Order: sequence, then C-alpha cells, then structure tokens
Amino acid sequence: MSTGQVSLEELLRQYAVGPGPLVRANFVTTLDGHATGGDGLSGSINSAADKQVFDVLRALADVVVVGAGTIRAEGYGRLRTQDPELLRLRRDAGRSDHPVLAVVTASGELPEKVLAQEPGAGDLLVLCAEAVAADLTERLGAEAVLVCGDDVVEATRALEALHARGLNQVLTEGGPHLLGGWLQAGVVDELCLTLRPVVLGGTGPRIVEAASGTGALARFELHHVLEIDGDLMLRYVAAS
Ligand SMILES: NC(=O)c1ccc[n+]([C@@H]2O[C@H](COP(=O)([O-])OP(=O)(O)OC[C@H]3O[C@@H](n4cnc5c(N)ncnc54)[C@H](OP(=O)(O)O)[C@@H]3O)[C@@H](O)[C@H]2O)c1
Repeated sequence: MSTGQVSLEELLRQYAVGPGPLVRANFVTTLDGHATGGDGLSGSINSAADKQVFDVLRALADVVVVGAGTIRAEGYGRLRTQDPELLRLRRDAGRSDHPVLAVVTASGELPEKVLAQEPGAGDLLVLCAEAVAADLTERLGAEAVLVCGDDVVEATRALEALHARGLNQVLTEGGPHLLGGWLQAGVVDELCLTLRPVVLGGTGPRIVEAASGTGALARFELHHVLEIDGDLMLRYVAAS
C-alpha cells in the first residue's frame, strides 16, 4: 500500500497496461455505496485525487466507452487530453492525442453536445442497436456508427468492433447499467474504484445496476491500494 501524495510517474507505473486488449472500468463510490451525490452526479462525490487517477486512466486508453445515461446526465462532450505531460505520453506511445469517445445507446437519443462533430474528426463512435442505426448514420456518417445488436448493444460485439478499429485499450467510465451488463457478459478485466471517505445516507444509484442471481456477478482480486489525501484508489483485476 502506498500512502500520501503520489507522483504522475508513480500513477503511470501503478496503472500501466500491456500491449494486449484490456477492458478496464473506472468508478467512484462513497463509503456507503453511493455512485452519485445528492444532485445525481458523480462529480459531487469525487475529489482532486480521484480526478488525477481518472485523467491517467484516460491517458492510457485508446477508447472510453460510456452509456448514454451517463452521457446525458454528466453532459459529456468529446474527450480532450489537456495535461501536456499526458499528451506527450500518448504521443510517445503512438496513440492519438485524445481517446475516442464511444457512446452506447439503444434509443439513439444523444445530446447535441456529443453529436456535434467536426467532419472527419474520428473522435466519436456510437455503439448502437440496429433499430436506430439509420438515423445515427445519417447524422454522423457510417464510419462513426457500429451496430452491435438487434435491440441492445451486446458487449462482446461492441468489443470486437472496437478491436477491429485498433482500439484495444478500452476504458469504461460507466455508468451503472453499462457496467452491470458488461459484468454479466464477463468482459471486464479490471475495476478501478475510488473509495471516498464520505457517508451520504439515504438511497441512490450504486456503481452496478444489474439483476442479482444466486451467486456473485463477478469476482476480483486486489492489485493495489493507493491512499491519496484519505481516498483509497483500488485497482482490482478479474479473478481467474
Ligand atoms: N460513480 C461513478 O463512478 C459513476 C460513473 C458513471 C455514471 N455515474 C452516474 O450514473 C448515473 C447514470 O446511470 P445509468 O445507469 O443510467 O448510466 P448508463 O449505464 O451510462 O446509461 C444507461 C443507458 O446507456 C445505454 N445502455 C447501457 N447499456 C446498454 C446496452 N447494453 N445496450 C444498449 N444501450 C445501453 C442505454 O441508453 P439509451 O437510453 O439511450 O438506450 C441506457 O438507458 C448518472 O447519475 C451518473 O452520474 C456514476
């Protein structure tokens, strides 16, 4: 366990990824399991330390996959690497300057902020169900629309489609329904979880929304714990 302030170099070492395909999820939760603050947003329960790791995980990703619910709630736009050191790191690793944003939707109802597209920018993909593909293709062009199921987006088809584009380091930032589906499909290799020392009480979303079965939905083994300013940054890998 590492404690106190953690340098960028140390974070990069702790979260380093190999060359092969990887699916990593990154979430934040309070001590009593809330995935959002009272305003329904995760931004109100995160912290500077959480943001630091969040940025590092993005910098190590080819693509960030996000459910449309989170896109709508959190007001996502295209992803931009702001930190010059992280930008240099991406360039040195042969990555594009910014990770691609891949939005998962069955309804096709996406906010204008995320749809607005510079022609040929190539920084947005929509992983969608067949029923809404035609509308999205008309709007975004065929290159940006990947059909990954008839009624819902199947996790394995989505990942195959991303890999076919050379997008192997996959980071999902949620939300809870997307993570629930991907855990059920058994495709999540890692869960990076920030545990914030805050208790909110009441009820609200947790990091996973999925029907419960008779056993565990997924099992993980601890890779590391970092303590930064009282937050615990947990990296778990899927149990073999
Ligand atoms: N604590 C954290 O780290 C964290 C992280 C992320 C989000 N959140 C919070 O979680 C809340 C949103 O929760 P949520 O569960 O609604 O988020 P979500 O999983 O991002 O969104 C659910 C929506 O995503 C689409 N979707 C997910 N899986 C799909 C599949 N297999 N096939 C087709 N579409 C699929 C659907 O969009 P359509 O409706 O368009 O079909 C579905 O309605 C927000 O309040 C956000 O702040 C917290």
